[in-house]
Amino acid sequence: MKAVVIRKFGPPDVMKVEEVERPAVPDSGVLVRVRYSSVNPVDWRIRNGSLKFIYGSRFPMKLGFDIAGEVEETGRSVTRFSKGDRVFGMLNYKVRGAYAEFACADENLLALIPWNIDFAEAAAIPLTGLTAFQALHYKGAMEGYDSVLINGASGGVGSFGVQIAKAAGCNVTAVCGTDHVEHVKALGADRVIDRLKQDFTKMPDKYDIIVDAVGKLTYFRVRRNLTKEGRYITTLPNKPADIACFLLLPILSFFGYRKSSAFVSVRPGGEDLSRLSLLVKEKKLAPLIDRTFDLEDVAAAHAYSETGSAKGKILIKIG
Ligand SMILES: NC(=O)c1ccc[n+]([C@@H]2O[C@H](COP(=O)([O-])OP(=O)(O)OC[C@H]3O[C@@H](n4cnc5c(N)ncnc54)[C@H](OP(=O)(O)O)[C@@H]3O)[C@@H](O)[C@H]2O)c1
Repeated sequence: MKAVVIRKFGPPDVMKVEEVERPAVPDSGVLVRVRYSSVNPVDWRIRNGSLKFIYGSRFPMKLGFDIAGEVEETGRSVTRFSKGDRVFGMLNYKVRGAYAEFACADENLLALIPWNIDFAEAAAIPLTGLTAFQALHYKGAMEGYDSVLINGASGGVGSFGVQIAKAAGCNVTAVCGTDHVEHVKALGADRVIDRLKQDFTKMPDKYDIIVDAVGKLTYFRVRRNLTKEGRYITTLPNKPADIACFLLLPILSFFGYRKSSAFVSVRPGGEDLSRLSLLVKEKKLAPLIDRTFDLEDVAAAHAYSETGSAKGKILIKIG
């Protein structure tokens, strides 16, 4: 089968499409004929070596987490899927290899693709949809009456965050750049702040939940914009200020301070994906797709993602 492989860390052109063996199918595994994958920033951070302390440096290395396709083969103990089912999912951190004609996932990581979307739309959902879902529902303990601000609302995570919070009944303020304001309004945000014209951290409004989907803020910058029990959740806690808060705020909570700060680290899983599927079927969630590249043009897809200016998801068409 064809798969994107790297044999060293480096710029996008270290990725090559090579002939490799199909993954073996363990008892609880499902072999999927991948039709589409999508690019996530973590993919190019693995490719350029900046995450080698987490993902190691064993080559050849396969890339990609998001898959959508048809079941080709099932392991002996698989009960939930059969050959021909349309499925999607996020591969686990160790396995990866979504940029390939076939990928193998444990059945617990997959869900059926909702009838009303195609493979391309389905491939746009898993990693970023799950991140937004887990940030809001698990880290944010979102309730329908909450006021929610999503920073980075036009990106992969943020565009799902806006829709998931809206679907739960929240009042949603979305922050994005000028070029993306109209797209973000169309996602259903109650209010859109153009980050290039206004700084929401200098405005008086307060929110129950602030999700920094692009990891550009810190708790200290937004704390005045949080309500008394406000929760700040970031996808990228790479700033010392964030890490200090993860330690400091639980201590302050003993003295009655109720604001909190958390980091969401996405967990692959078919159950949460099925919850996202329900929203898709109810037409409360639709992926925002920027553009699609062929597998052979994966280097261009990464280069585009690295500009940080994509509107929603970048897809990779396979086969
Ligand atoms: N912890 C986890 O488990 C986890 C999971 C998923 C993603 N992440 C991380 O979360 C980040 C976002 O992921 P993604 O897939 O949503 O990325 P993405 O789709 O590439 O995000 C692109 C968006 O970022 C916005 N942006 C760029 N610079 C900005 C700035 N200075 N301030 C605010 N927004 C800015 C741009 O929108 P505008 O120009 O419209 O503002 C652009 O549309 C990445 O760093 C990713 O690695 C972490």
